Amino acid sequence: MCRYGTHHGGCKKHNLFVIEDVAPAIGADYTFSDGNKAKAGTIGTIGCTSFFPSKNLGCYGDGGAMYTNDSDLAAKMKMISHHGQSVQYVHDVLGVNSRLDTIQAAILKNQIATFR
Ligand SMILES: Cc1ncc(COP(=O)(O)O)c(C=O)c1O
Repeated sequence: MCRYGTHHGGCKKHNLFVIEDVAPAIGADYTFSDGNKAKAGTIGTIGCTSFFPSKNLGCYGDGGAMYTNDSDLAAKMKMISHHGQSVQYVHDVLGVNSRLDTIQAAILKNQIATFR
């Protein structure tokens, strides 16, 4: 755990990355000490959230998402969540089955339209 706004310099120096788990804070703004604002989950290297029904943005079962603006990292994250495959049936790395199912995605598509 670290304070927002103070961690980036220290992390770079030690080649560390920040993963922001924003499950209870999705949609929230963070205001830095200089007045700049950023959405929770967009400040670190990777943002992630749970879509469990009790969350601010929830589906009807288990679900979650992770996101980054680093395209190489995004490709690796996608590969890991698809059984370690970059191409169907070619497993480059050890992965997991962690895809959001279609029913939950459809529910979230509806929920996000009214999410504030
Ligand atoms: C910050 C945070 N991360 C993760 C989780 C767990 O999410 P899930 O149940 O989708 O694994 C929760 C649930 O309470 C949470 O509050």
